[in-house]
Amino acid sequence: MSVTSPTVSDDPVVFDPYSDDYFDSPFETYRRMRDEAPLYYSDKYDFWALTRYADVAAAIKDHQTFSSAKGVTLDMVKAAAKGESSLGKIIISLDPPEHERMRKLVNRVFTPRAVTALESLVRETIDRYASQLDPKSFDAVEDFAALFPVEVITSMLGVPAADRQMLRHWLDISLERNQGMGMSQESMEAVMKSGAYYYELIQERRKKPQDDMISRLIETEVTDDGETRRLDDIEITGFCTMLGGAGAETVTKLVGNAVVVFADNPDQWRMLQEDRSKIPAAFEELLRYEGPSQYQIRTPTRDVTMYDETIPEGAPVLLINGSASRDERFFPDADRFDINRERKVGYNLNFGYGIHSCLGAALARMEGRMAIDTLLDLIPDYDIDRSGLQRVHMTNVLGWCNVPVRGAQTTDR
Ligand code: HEM
Repeated sequence: MSVTSPTVSDDPVVFDPYSDDYFDSPFETYRRMRDEAPLYYSDKYDFWALTRYADVAAAIKDHQTFSSAKGVTLDMVKAAAKGESSLGKIIISLDPPEHERMRKLVNRVFTPRAVTALESLVRETIDRYASQLDPKSFDAVEDFAALFPVEVITSMLGVPAADRQMLRHWLDISLERNQGMGMSQESMEAVMKSGAYYYELIQERRKKPQDDMISRLIETEVTDDGETRRLDDIEITGFCTMLGGAGAETVTKLVGNAVVVFADNPDQWRMLQEDRSKIPAAFEELLRYEGPSQYQIRTPTRDVTMYDETIPEGAPVLLINGSASRDERFFPDADRFDINRERKVGYNLNFGYGIHSCLGAALARMEGRMAIDTLLDLIPDYDIDRSGLQRVHMTNVLGWCNVPVRGAQTTDR
């Protein structure tokens, strides 16, 4: 199975992105893959995987060879191979030149100014949820981290307040992979429901535009092959579903992971408590140490030979950025969580890299930093009830659905 012969253990390393081993903590498996099988092949699912920083960074940058067009989850790529794909024109699964056109267009509505303008909304949303928490006992994900990111992104899109958490619920279900690689009936229905929801909302905005992103996308003109046109309903629906997902799941996971990582490293929490100017660095280190988005899927547009093996054209390849960011070849003492870590170029592979690098990074940073700041006030000293910790079982993302917190002190909020 592994391409290079195992030297550390007699058993070949096994990586299964739908197993408890992966969901619970994939980092030891990643280490073995980097050492023993830097180009890994999975017999079970028929995919390839790269885990070393240098390989992941080079592949993710080389969009001509490593295409996104077949989809961004393994099941999507498999469906595309069987001709069963229902992929719309979603930015994350487009190659140039279509990707470039879509990115330019989205950049027009997702400007740094638009993100800066969200500051008070983000602050107000985080404060509203935090003020409802009992610092002595609450669930950091269920009662906090899961609630505010979806509020922010869906209000930016123009979703009425009453419907926002319902969309998050559908999103959670759509990403669940409790039974292995394929989507359950429930997951598929959840995708359909949120697609239908956004489609309806677009019809409403076409009739009566408002000051929101959907209305702006309806108005935006795009030039395709010299012809100027507007986006159609399906394109806007795809964009809303993608943005709603990317904007909600990831920040939730990042904040949940933060609470557990800091509970494991209380000295770092105290350090942050004493010097809040370290919050941005702490966010970057959290992203490196346990980023929410662990791998990106690509399909090579030609045969690619590495480590004396050939990845055939069109075969799914997992570029495991979650492993790359723990690669001791690049990060000294990579398994140590250290908010004072010296930064290197290309550090944030966990926000992607190259043409698909995260469009929402500025917003994610703003939300993550504010959430950490709020938690420092709310639970200056805390522990977690480890018996109640629960991991999500989702495709692509890594994180917790339950993180029960016991605050030792309370502060006046
Ligand atoms: C901590 C939070 C986040 C993490 C770790 C994260 C991670 C990533 C990664 C790794 C990619 C690259 C995907 C690829 O190469 O195939 C990406 C792309 C993207 N992200 Fe994020 N993301 C986060 C938050 C957000 C937020 C808040 C938004 C939107 C509001 C967002 C919107 C997007 C979009 C639209 C893309 C696709 C860009 C393109 O294909 O050109 N993300 N993100």
